[in-house]
This record gives sequence, structure tokens and C-alpha cells, in this order.
Amino acid sequence: MNKEERSDFDLTWRLRRLRHSAPIRKMVQDVYLRPSDLIYPLFVTEEKDVRREIKSMPGQYQLSLEHLVDEARETQALGIPAVILFGLPVVKDEHGSSAFDENGIVQQAIRAIKNELPELIVIADTCLCEYTSHGHCGVVQETNQEGMPKGLPKGYVLNDQTLDVLCKTAVSQAAAGADIVAPSGMMDGMVRAIRNSLDHSGYSHVPIMSYSVKYASAFYGPFRDAADGAPQFGDRNTHQMDPAESKQAFNECELDIQEGADFIMVKPALAYLDVVARLKQRFPQTPLVAYNVSGEYAMVKAAAANGWLDEKAVVTEKLTGMKRAGADLIITYHARDFCRWLNQ
Ligand code: PBG
Repeated sequence: MNKEERSDFDLTWRLRRLRHSAPIRKMVQDVYLRPSDLIYPLFVTEEKDVRREIKSMPGQYQLSLEHLVDEARETQALGIPAVILFGLPVVKDEHGSSAFDENGIVQQAIRAIKNELPELIVIADTCLCEYTSHGHCGVVQETNQEGMPKGLPKGYVLNDQTLDVLCKTAVSQAAAGADIVAPSGMMDGMVRAIRNSLDHSGYSHVPIMSYSVKYASAFYGPFRDAADGAPQFGDRNTHQMDPAESKQAFNECELDIQEGADFIMVKPALAYLDVVARLKQRFPQTPLVAYNVSGEYAMVKAAAANGWLDEKAVVTEKLTGMKRAGADLIITYHARDFCRWLNQ
């Protein structure tokens, strides 16, 4: 390139013009992260007077009812519109029956929050793994019982038998006042079954936020400590998705939308933002949620505690990345910290 050519080239391609000052950068910004994009997870325990920090999730607590309502109130005051509830029952059984008990811990928690904070959106996670003694997300194959599917190994999570329990759970959550139910068990047909049950029970107005695309991920590790929900045997690979398979996400979302899902979700978020981006393009009409899971939170917290990362900058950057990829909403344990930083 001679000198003249080079100056033409320089004048044409100066992308740095739009970056050279903070006001100009702000003027051309097109991705916004607002408190109203965030959903905050809360763990409620049936034990009394407990506010127990979760070891692998610094800043997150197992909370008994009275503490839960305080935490929910602060969350709302920070401008966060919604919480998602996970219950920790004292008694678990093979069938997860405390999941659909009208006086179960989540049902009590929903009533307590809605009583005090009617404007806060309460989402109930609809799954059985926190309620079953074996820690699986559904009814499991025991032996070759009468009426059970044939040829499945012991411990296999049975799809259709699980749907009945999920439906009862969702209806009990709606009856307690949940604004949204969020089935997270990756059972086939769960959205249709729950939609039918809600509609027939007088809850046709209650939306379903489906964990449509949930991968079998090691990033759930800290959550399983928090919720005491690790499977006692086996794993979740026969129902959660394989991280090395990239196309079933479309089927999962298409079916969920046909079955009546009002929101679709990708979980975890960080290692799956390609999936978020592709789903947003394919299903632009349906609100898309990214779940920034426990392991993604724990990594940042651990590095920040060691002084290896700037927590505020890293959290802002990763949540912005999720929105840029196409997430409309983000479930994140960082929600409260992020809103506090905005207020500073
Ligand atoms: C299942 C459920 C899980 C999470 C949310 N809902 C655990 C699992 O599938 O094993 C994980 C959330 C997180 O890691 O933050 N009820």
C-alpha cells in the first residue's frame, strides 16, 4: 500500500470513531440490562428460624418462611419483578408427595409472599427432585412391576407416571397463588399435561415457563448442595439433554410452544449462548429465559473472593452477553448484587 492508498483506507474504516468517548459509546449502545429483566431464585426450608448460607454459593441462603418474606421484600425493593422458589421439605418420600401437599413448604411460601407482597411475581419451580428420597425428578422404575413399561433399567425415571405427579404439583402451586409455574423435569409432554390440568382446575390464566432446553450439566453442582437434590443413584442423562447434541433444542421448544408454553428457557446459560441465539432467531415470538445457574455463580464468587476477578465488571459483562445473545429474561443469583451496583 502506498501512502495515498493508505490514507483512503484509514478514512473509510475508522470503527473507533464510535468508541472514542463515553457519551458516544452510550449513544450507540443497543443492549440494555435492566432490573426488570431479572428473576431471583430463593430457597425456602421447612425448618424453623433458619438463615443458613449455602457453602458453595456465598451470599445465597436456605431460608425459613419468616426470613424468606424479608428477603423477597428486599428483592422487590431493588426493582426485581420476580422470584423463583425452590422448596426444601423436612420429609421426603419415594413419590415426592410433599411436592403437591397444600401445606407443603413451597405452597406455604407462595401464600406468605403473596400475602405480604401481592405485586411481586412468584414463580414456582415444578419438579420432584427436591421432594423424592432418591433425589430423582420423577417416579422411578423399581422392579418389573405390573403396568410399568418393559425393558427399562432399575432407577429409570418413568415419563408418564411422573406427569401425573407434576400436574398435581402445578395445580397445588397455582392454588396457593403462584403467578407462574415452571416445570423443570424435562419429561416429554409435561407442558401439555400441566396446561390441561391447570385449565381444568380453574387456572387457565396461570402461565407456564418451561425449562424447555435443559442440559445434563455439571454446572448444577452447587444447587444440588443447596437443595439437597443430588440423585442417590444414577444420573439425569436419560432426560436432560446431551451438551454434545445441538439440534434437539429446536424440537424441545417447538413442542413446548405447541403444548402451550408461555415462556421457553435455556439452562445453563454461559456455555449455551449459541443455543440461546439460535432459539431467539427461530422463535422470536416467545419470551426466552436464560438460567445463569449455580455453578456459573460459584465460579465468579470464588475467583472474586481470591481477588482474581473484578466481580462487578465480570457479572455485568456476562449478564449483558446473555441479553446480547437473545435472552429476554435471566434467572440469576447475581440479581440483587447487580441491582445494588446500579443504585450506587
Ligand atoms: C430441578 C432444578 C435444578 C436446577 C434448577 N431446577 C437441578 C437439576 O436439574 O439437577 C439447577 C439450578 C442451578 O444450578 O442453579 N428442580
